[in-house]
Amino acid sequence: MGDSTDRDRAIQGARPEAGSKRYGILIVDDEEAILESLRLTLSGDYRVLTAPTGKEALEILEREPVALVIADQVMPGMSGVEFLEKVIELDPRIMRLMLTGYADLSSIVRAINEGRIYRYIAKPWEPDDLRQNVKRALEAYELAGENVQLASALADANERLRKENVYLRRQIEGRYAFDQILGSSPAMNRVFDVLEKVAQTDATVLLSGETGTGKDLVARAVHYSGTRKDRPFVAQNCGALPETLLESELFGHKRGAFTGAHADKLGLFEVANGGTIFLDEIGETEPGMQVRLLRVLQDGEIRPLGAAETRKVDVRIIAATNRDLRKDVKEGRFREDLFYRLRVVEITLPPLRERQIDIPVLAHHFLDRFNKKMGKDLRGFTNGAMERLMANHWAGNVRELENEIERTIVLSGDAQTISVEMLSEDIRGEGPSGAIAPAWAPDDPDLNRAVDALKSHMILAAIEEAGSKSQAATRLGIPRQSLQKMMKRLGLTDSET
Ligand SMILES: Nc1ncnc2c1ncn2[C@@H]1O[C@H](COP(=O)(O)OP(=O)(O)O)[C@@H](O)[C@H]1O
Ligand SMILES: [Mg+2]
Repeated sequence: MGDSTDRDRAIQGARPEAGSKRYGILIVDDEEAILESLRLTLSGDYRVLTAPTGKEALEILEREPVALVIADQVMPGMSGVEFLEKVIELDPRIMRLMLTGYADLSSIVRAINEGRIYRYIAKPWEPDDLRQNVKRALEAYELAGENVQLASALADANERLRKENVYLRRQIEGRYAFDQILGSSPAMNRVFDVLEKVAQTDATVLLSGETGTGKDLVARAVHYSGTRKDRPFVAQNCGALPETLLESELFGHKRGAFTGAHADKLGLFEVANGGTIFLDEIGETEPGMQVRLLRVLQDGEIRPLGAAETRKVDVRIIAATNRDLRKDVKEGRFREDLFYRLRVVEITLPPLRERQIDIPVLAHHFLDRFNKKMGKDLRGFTNGAMERLMANHWAGNVRELENEIERTIVLSGDAQTISVEMLSEDIRGEGPSGAIAPAWAPDDPDLNRAVDALKSHMILAAIEEAGSKSQAATRLGIPRQSLQKMMKRLGLTDSET
């Protein structure tokens, strides 16, 4: 197949359909099968153009309006990164997605460090995942366009126009709300799918996930992208107050309801009327509070402390927990009926260590943020540093990553790039790569002696834990006689035989 046929095909694909306002997407890959499969997935919703090389793709870009390019990383001739850099020169507004092998960590790191891509798609991809990534990229594209328009409209605004813009901007802020949540891993895409559906409803949402996984962020995003966004968003940490105080915070009280209640107080449910209340750490609530919350969910009614009558409220509830509420229900710590009322929609935010692929985007996001905040100009991460960040366990999830980047920038002196040595000790790790560092390293360099030491250690620990030699043997996965022999050889046989 010669160049010209490929070219013709590309040009044919470039012709917009009559009257179509659909966005143009240009896909560049040297593999025909991949081009076909992407075209199949996307051509229902977009105007899809394809090119087999970066060079031909650039020619198409000269003539055709394109909002998004998807480029393979590894191509003969011009690489994906080189191509995307040319695209930036040509028109920086064009959104850039990269296709990349999932296992190829360092190419991902380089792509994001050097190619300044919007996000990448790991091969092999799920068609739904791909559509989701494309949709979000195009939303960001549209948003950027709207912002430019907004800025020029603002420039010659009179009072009335300004008011309209405030409204416009609010709308855009609502969409920004989801835009603040970064990540393009399959796990996060599933979260976005549910978020989009749930935002436009009044459904009660239960957010679960380890600390630092973004529960707060998501709760706000749900509120600010839904129909209640112009009404209040109120948050209360249910684990932070003793029960009576929490009750008075949430439901309010009448003057004289208890010692110290000098005046009537409006509860947060009434403050949030028409809007959303975010009940953080819902798993920490006492049984009495759980009953009262159930009543709000069932009847939409609250009763302030010391008040005779109940009052109606219209409040959307978003609850969050880092506990395993199912287990709490089973063990009688949390009311089952309340649990089911809360989890009309349940969104579980995955721990960061299960979505390593999101780490470069987050790290760059925090780098930009703290660069600005501290007036610094660090340009990125060395590939080594990024690999360590991706391999780390992150018990504190995104919050811990955020703190790590902040700390690194504070201490960066006049470094231009974040390198391995600048990271905290526990993230830096030892040896060539933190990812493959062994959990246990012997002091003794002699291999046989080290193996014997490890065997002795494991055998003694197994006997101690299992309580008998035969059970220890089962646990160690060896026959009892072998254990016997091994212990003798290692000099461990003194007591019972
Ligand atoms: N997906 C994400 N994209 C961008 N920032 C995030 C993301 N998830 C969490 N963060 C940031 O990490 C920090 C911790 O998130 P937060 O919502 O407070 O977590 P949680 O409530 O689950 O403990 C916040 O600064 C938040 O903005
Ligand atoms: Mg939180």
